[in-house]
This record gives sequence, C-alpha cells and structure tokens, in this order.
Amino acid sequence: MRLDRSAIEAAVRTAYTDHRNDSGGKNAGYIPYLASVNPDLFGVCAMTADGALFEAGDTGFEFALESISKVFSMAWAMEKVGLETFQEKVGADPTGEPFNSVISVALHGDTPVSPLVNAGAMSTVSLIPGDTAEDKWEAILQVQSAFAGRKISLSDEVNDSEQSTNFHNRAIAWLLYSGGTMYSDPMEACDVYTRQCSTLVTARDLAAMGASIANRGINPLTGDRVVSAANIPAMLAEMTMEGMYTASGDWAYRVGLPGKSGVGGGILAIMPGKLAIAGFAPPLDEVGNSVKAQRAVAQVAAALGLSIY
Ligand code: DON
Repeated sequence: MRLDRSAIEAAVRTAYTDHRNDSGGKNAGYIPYLASVNPDLFGVCAMTADGALFEAGDTGFEFALESISKVFSMAWAMEKVGLETFQEKVGADPTGEPFNSVISVALHGDTPVSPLVNAGAMSTVSLIPGDTAEDKWEAILQVQSAFAGRKISLSDEVNDSEQSTNFHNRAIAWLLYSGGTMYSDPMEACDVYTRQCSTLVTARDLAAMGASIANRGINPLTGDRVVSAANIPAMLAEMTMEGMYTASGDWAYRVGLPGKSGVGGGILAIMPGKLAIAGFAPPLDEVGNSVKAQRAVAQVAAALGLSIY
C-alpha cells in the first residue's frame, strides 16, 4: 500500500470538519485539572514514518499525556529488562476491566496482567532502573522527549491536581506489593507514574511519538533511535490488547490499528511502517476514551484503507 500525501491531507482535514461539531462525552471529572480544560478543543494530526506532518484544528494546544505515557515507559522498561522478563513480571493480556480496576488486580493474585492499565503501568515504573525516584523520573522524561523529538515537560498544575487525588492508585500499588509484582517502593512508583501522566504534549507531539513507533523505533524528525526495533511488535501487541481499555476489542474490530488513549483526551493509532494518527478532544465516553478523537482517528484510518489485519 502506498500512502499518497494529498490523500492523507484530505483525510485529516475531512475528519476534522466532519467531527468538529460532534457532541457527547464529558471531560474526566476525577482529576480537577482535566475537568477544567475547554471541552471544545479538537485537533487531528497524522505523521508518516518519514516525518511528514498533516494537521487540522487545535494541534498546538498542550494537554496532559495521561495514560498514553504508559506506552513510552513500557518501551523503556522492555528495553532495560528484556521482553521475556517484562512479560513475566508485568503481563501481556487484556484485563477486560476498567483502567483503574482493583477487581482485576485482586482476581489475578494481586498482579497487574497488562502494562497499559494503571496497575501495570505502576509495576512498569517500578522496573525502570534508577536508585532514586528522580533517576527514574529523569529517564521517563527523556524517553518521552526522545519519542516526541522535543523536550517534554511536567505540568506542575496537572501533577499537583493528580497527586492530591490519586488515593485509588496508591491502594492498587500496595496490592501489587503484596502480590510480589511491585519491584520498588510502591509509593515511589505511584508518585513517578503520576508524574509521567502529568506531562504536556500537543497532538503534533503525539503524532511524532507515534511516528517513531511506526518508523520501527527511529524518530523520523531527529533520526535518533529511541527504542530497539525488536521491541516494536510487542509494544504494538500490548496496544492492540489493552490500549483502548475495555473498548480495545471493539477498536481492533472496527479500526484495525494498535491504539492508545488517555483521559486528557488524546488518542494515538499506529499503522506499522507507515503512519501515526493522533487526535485530541477532552470529552470522554464511559470507558475513558475521547469521543471525538476516536471518531476522527477511525475515520482517517478508514479513508486511507489502513488496517494491520
Ligand atoms: O491514573 C490515572 O487515573 C490517570 N493519571 C491516567 C488514566 C488514564 O489516562 C486512563 N485513560 N484513559
């Protein structure tokens, strides 16, 4: 399949205009900062594996990366501990439960099952090498920046809002500790996980981060290798199984691309070797996925005939 640049440009623009006035969904309410973001913001981007950018709407607005951060910390942990150890210690199955499910953890002997739910993401952070929380945090920030091709920073405002309300995640971290799947101090892992969710990205950044995955681990903007090519299939497999939470099966069936969502309103989908599609709109459905960004990303994928199946 050859992707024609004018076709990508048209697909992005049409998806934006078709869904710009869609209603439905609600900003995440459990993190005060997210509840306060303008719900009308909407941006759609695509970036090819060789770095060509296509965009429409609010693609320069900085929003909280949230759960999409799980993909990049997973990439780094895989890199550092190896795929086999990572799978054994964190897991590689869909949970079938919401992203913050305690029940899933408890049903599986206090283990996380997937690195792309909150439990697995904290377990993943606990595997990242570093003597202190700051060492781990610096590594994560560098990895996010390397994937984006620019310096990504923490928002103190988002982080303060999350750290003062993340009691549910703290409970999950202790459950994992009791199950032997928390590999550092649980509150340190929860703190660093909360920070990794609180960095700011634009839809353009998200497209570049995805294009680095589509380009098999080389950021097309900087030319830097950001993750081993050998780990890309496992990353994409994890995204397929759990990237859209309990809607992952539905997304795979309808859209056919590995994806990842965040409660900040971002959605990222990858066509390996070809293209990344990114969308941003704050109002979420009941699963926690952006209503408009899901529709727009799905429409771009369909218009271009993209599917990994
Ligand atoms: O841990 C949390 O609940 C948030 N910091 C991130 C969750 C998230 O983005 C789930 N996504 N759809």
